[in-house]
Amino acid sequence: MKLKLAVLPGDGIGPEIVEQAMKSVKAIAAKFNHELEYEYALTGATAIDQVGEPYPDQTHELCMQSDAVLFGAIGDPKFDNNPKATVRPEQGLLLMRKKLGLYANIRPVETFESLLHKSPLRRELVEGADFVAIRELTGGIYFGEKGRKDDGNTAFDTCTYTRAEVERILKLGYEFALKRNKKLTVVDKANVLESSRLWREVAQGMAPNYPDVTTEYMFVDNAAMQIIQWPKNFDVMVTENMFGDILTDEASVITGSLGLLPSASIGIHTSVFEPIHGSYPQAAGKDIANPIATILSAAMMFEYAFNLMEEGKLIRDAVAASMAAGVVTVDIAEGKSYKTSEVGDWIADWIANA
Ligand code: IPM
Ligand code: MN
Repeated sequence: MKLKLAVLPGDGIGPEIVEQAMKSVKAIAAKFNHELEYEYALTGATAIDQVGEPYPDQTHELCMQSDAVLFGAIGDPKFDNNPKATVRPEQGLLLMRKKLGLYANIRPVETFESLLHKSPLRRELVEGADFVAIRELTGGIYFGEKGRKDDGNTAFDTCTYTRAEVERILKLGYEFALKRNKKLTVVDKANVLESSRLWREVAQGMAPNYPDVTTEYMFVDNAAMQIIQWPKNFDVMVTENMFGDILTDEASVITGSLGLLPSASIGIHTSVFEPIHGSYPQAAGKDIANPIATILSAAMMFEYAFNLMEEGKLIRDAVAASMAAGVVTVDIAEGKSYKTSEVGDWIADWIANA
């Protein structure tokens, strides 16, 4: 099969971790005889520094022509500390999501046996937790009308959703639930927000079409609590953009390491695969960052973008083998630790020799 990829390393540790994931992608392509075609492009602070904007047209064109995008991370402290900066790396990410129509962000929350002791939760609460958070990614307050009035002394951001947007994401939620443990938790704030009442209305209309799925409704504040109290009660969670942003960060830490979790952003034009963590600028260039989240994002890419399940599984098996063998970076190592590049090489070699 022909695999046409756009590779967007971005900022901070982005280039190093994406390089490790590409080693596994190449090993898979060689093993399964796929024709791999890929091209690198600029994004984030790196793109601002080089061409003045965080998601250049050239990058967008490349993404549009690709079957999938492998993305590293964006962000640079020099922008975070300057509230008056008008061009920011994050705008590139938001523009990319909007222009590629990436309406669903899928974040699986899985635990790894060897890391349970690093979870902030007690072992019995988190052991076996396994759910998928689906976050709406191109609507809501992130993209609503915003501005200032009263000479800049009043600021507003608006949360807007259309019925069609809500239906589209809920449908995806139901499809996931059908393939998993048949429970869908719709997270909203319908006791206060009109947009949430639309979500609930749409969900209540759709639920009878999925008689095999149990639909559960939960207010977002309660969901924030349930994630740490009873994480095993969730199967598929679906929610709007900002609630999803906050809840998925919360959910990711209960597994014991943010450095291990991948994500997929499913789109109209193409899909993007990236680790959940950020650009970790303090570690940039040091060859110490954990590449596993990005390598697992590549596994999701084979599965979601190309429906190549065996290829995805082989990457997952290789990652599991590296962890079992203790070939891991310093953030999760118990004794001896390995460099980012050594972990990447080990995993790619394991795939080649499997
Ligand atoms: C994420 C990030 C982004 C978001 C930022 C960088 C704009 O936190 O992907 O979750 O808020 O969506
Ligand atoms: Mn976030």
